[in-house]
Amino acid sequence: MTDSPTLAISRLTLTEFRNYGGLRLETAARLVALTGANGAGKTNVLEAISLLGPGRGLRGASFEDLARQGGPGGWAVAAAVETPSGPVSLGTAWNGQSDTGDGGGRLVVIDGEAQKGPGALGDYLRLLWLTPAQDRLFAGPASDRRRFLDRMVAAFDPEHGARVLAFEKVMRERNLLLEDHRADAAWLTSLEARMAEAAVAISAARHVGLEALRTHIGEGRGVSSFPWAEVAIEGEIESLVTQRPAVQVEDEYRKILRDSRGLDRAAGRTLRGPHRSDLDVVHGTKRMPAGQCSTGEQKALLIGLMLAQARAVKGAAGVSPILLLDEVAAHLDRARRGSLLEALAALGSQSWMTGTDAQLFEGMGHHGAIFHVEDGRVCQAMDE
Ligand SMILES: Nc1ncnc2c1ncn2[C@@H]1O[C@H](COP(=O)(O)OP(=O)(O)O)[C@@H](O)[C@H]1O
Ligand SMILES: [Mg+2]
Repeated sequence: MTDSPTLAISRLTLTEFRNYGGLRLETAARLVALTGANGAGKTNVLEAISLLGPGRGLRGASFEDLARQGGPGGWAVAAAVETPSGPVSLGTAWNGQSDTGDGGGRLVVIDGEAQKGPGALGDYLRLLWLTPAQDRLFAGPASDRRRFLDRMVAAFDPEHGARVLAFEKVMRERNLLLEDHRADAAWLTSLEARMAEAAVAISAARHVGLEALRTHIGEGRGVSSFPWAEVAIEGEIESLVTQRPAVQVEDEYRKILRDSRGLDRAAGRTLRGPHRSDLDVVHGTKRMPAGQCSTGEQKALLIGLMLAQARAVKGAAGVSPILLLDEVAAHLDRARRGSLLEALAALGSQSWMTGTDAQLFEGMGHHGAIFHVEDGRVCQAMDE
């Protein structure tokens, strides 16, 4: 065990959130397991925690879907969090009205002070999650892997999420402007300049994040019981920024955008840029593209990546992120489950896990607490 600073939620309250009318959960444990039948509300708790970061949470749900059916129409999530710089209280709530679609439109309060947006949450609560929806990450569309990559980068660099959103916003403006044939060329040029600046920043941040990840994947090699992966970014701008100075790449991408106005107009979207990049993952020892590995191997690769990422964040930020692991234990044999629990405990920060069966979590030792979830209620099953 390390004595490095940790991040942990000591109290969590949900109000009119999903199937919870009101929930108050307190724990001092570093490993928290939520167990119970399908549909009990386990994932809902992880989702609530994920909303204490910027963005739309681990299901990417609309705020309306989060409001309890039959409830008043809004919802709230609040937590007391231990951080390296002392305790902080985080809260977020939605009043049932505006949803800007990008994680905005909700009230965010930090230590009693209302914030302008959810961005500041990332400064306090670094979060990583793994969900069953990611089981198809390697074989699914590039957009999912790109989002995975960007979330990973944002865990090092809390500004990254805002950077990506800003790029996408300007790009949408450009796409709209292209549809209008009488569009002002100077306006188009200025949007493209903003896109180019953001694109280079995004690509550079992705490289920095991935390089840190590689270092920590390397450290885990031979030690971790999860397979190691080779990771690379496939992307036009990412490849340019490794070859030339940033200002030059900015010029180049501006030129690309200007020259492809006709094509982009015809396509109805921007065809080239950092919003088309992909994350390439190869199973290290088997030298097999992750998408062609077995389901179990893919899961083990993902867990290995997530652990490396958590160590990398710890290396960069001094504190390991809080991990939300939905239905992870069920995929692992007993030995691997044991090594996962050990690896999580060694990271130091709190991990939240779900599973149908409490037996999956035996061996958490004194770091752990098991809660039983039933029908929107949670009670502590045992304190090991
Ligand atoms: N907005 C909502 N209002 C009330 N119940 C909801 C809402 N959204 C989802 N649920 C219910 O929450 C339950 C799913 O909870 P979940 O946490 O995903 O279960 P699990 O314990 O299997 O992870 C389902 O019974 C679902 O109907
Ligand atoms: Mg679930």
